[in-house]
This record gives sequence, structure tokens and C-alpha cells, in this order.
Amino acid sequence: MDGAPPPPSPAGLSAYVAVSQALGLALLAATGAWLGRYRGGVGWHSPLQLNAHPLCMVLAMVFLQGDALLVCVFRHEAKRSKALHGLLHGLALLMALVGIIAVFESHRAKGIPDMYSLHSWCGMATFVLYLLQWFLGCGFFLFPGASFSLRGWYKPHHIFFGITLFILSITSCLLGITEMLLFKISDSYSHFVPEGILANTLGVLLVAFGLVVGYVLTREEWRRPPLAEELALSMDFKTLTEGESPGGGSQ
Ligand code: HEM
Repeated sequence: MDGAPPPPSPAGLSAYVAVSQALGLALLAATGAWLGRYRGGVGWHSPLQLNAHPLCMVLAMVFLQGDALLVCVFRHEAKRSKALHGLLHGLALLMALVGIIAVFESHRAKGIPDMYSLHSWCGMATFVLYLLQWFLGCGFFLFPGASFSLRGWYKPHHIFFGITLFILSITSCLLGITEMLLFKISDSYSHFVPEGILANTLGVLLVAFGLVVGYVLTREEWRRPPLAEELALSMDFKTLTEGESPGGGSQ
């Protein structure tokens, strides 16, 4: 426990979090329904291995990553929510790695060249930057040798790249969905076939989830008040950059 009772959650925050989770579950259900009903399901070391790719990527890079960002605004048990933030990002990274292996192995098995499409370029850039962000986050915030001032300098960069990577992930998914539809149903897509409508709906759900998560994260008054050590962290950074003494007076 942090000593003082946790500040109450602001009005409306819980409702937006609930909507985000409903959208998240709906987009996972839509992904499962698309792959299960129209693409023959998901497998490994079989022709269905390619389908493991969208399933893992949507679950990891959108749902888990979105929830890892959302827990940053939780005010109860702020320290636990930080641990949950790292854990959800770790799970997302592992699941995304499985998804990337699935598509590379499936290409090798079918003799399809790698990294030729816009989707694969954007997707790979997103994944590599996400990996980098994860390592930098661990390095700056978990490595005991990182000073307060260094953490204070890095934190705004971590937040900016965290939100940017979430947007890039959703964009990569939209490119992937469009590409898959053009590969699989290019002849019938323009006839409003049910598979096309379902996959388009998945795309809309991905955007809606991203918007709700983004709204929650950027509402100024919903930001979690800083913990005592975070205040010390920004104080220490201020001291370093503006020459203020920790006691408050300029030198
Ligand atoms: C953030 C999410 C995603 C990332 C990071 C990502 C990443 C990648 C990468 C790096 C490749 C290239 C693999 C290779 O060249 O062997 C690829 C291929 C592919 N992805 Fe994704 N992907 C994501 C989401 C999706 C989604 C949601 C779908 C479909 C619903 C999808 C469909 C495909 C398809 C069909 C290929 C094979 C064709 C190609 O190489 O472009 N991807 N993806």
C-alpha cells in the first residue's frame, strides 16, 4: 500500500474503460469468427499457420498493448498498475513474436518471398521499435543504476513512443487485413460478401478501440496523480535542467 488512501477515480473514467474492454473483446471475437468461419481456423506446421499471424498480432499488438497503456491511468494501487503495465507489454511482446514466426515459417513452407509488401515493411518497423521501446523501458525504469534525472529525461519520450507505437500497430493491422482480403477474396470483395463485411467490421473495431484508449490516455484531468517518487523524479530532472536546488530556490 502507498500509505495515504488512493484518490477516487474521476467520474466517467470507469465507463470509458468499460467501453474500451467491450470493444477489445468484440475485436478479438471478430478476429476469431473471421479466421474460424471463413479461413479454416488456426494451426501450426500446417497450411493454417498463416492464420496464427493475424490472431496473435491483433491480440498482442492491439488488445494487450492497449490495456498495458490503459492501466497507467488507474489510481488504486498505482505501484501494482506499473507492474501490470510491464507484464502486459511483456506478454504482448511474446505473443507478437509467435505471430511473426508464424508468418515467416508459413512463407518459407510455401516458398513465398519475405518482406515485399507495404504491410510487412510497416509491420516489421512497428515490431522492431516496440521491442526497442520494451528494452529501453526496462533499462531506464527497472535497472537500479539509472539515476532519477536520467529517468526524468526519458519518461516523456517513453510516453510519446508508447502512444505512437500503439497507433502504428493499429495501422499495420489495417494494412494486413486489406492485404489478406485482396489475397483471398479479390474476386468477390466488391460484392459486399459476408467475409468482406466481417473483416471490414474488424478494422472499424480496431480504430474504435484505439480512439477510446487514446481518449482516456489524453484527458488531462484523468491522468493519475504522480507518486511521491515520481515527484522526486521530476524535481530531480528540473534541478538538472534548470539549475534549481531540490529545496526549490534557483541558484
Ligand atoms: C501490428 C500488427 C502486425 C504486424 C507487426 C505484422 C507484421 C508482419 C510482417 C513483418 C510480415 C512479413 C513476413 C514475411 O515477409 O515473411 C507480415 C506478413 C503478413 N501479414 Fe502481418 N502483421 C500484423 C498484423 C496483421 C494482420 C492483422 C493481418 C491480417 C488480418 C496480417 C496479415 C499478413 C499477411 C497476409 C502477411 C503475408 C504477406 C506479406 O508478407 O505481406 N498481419 N506481417
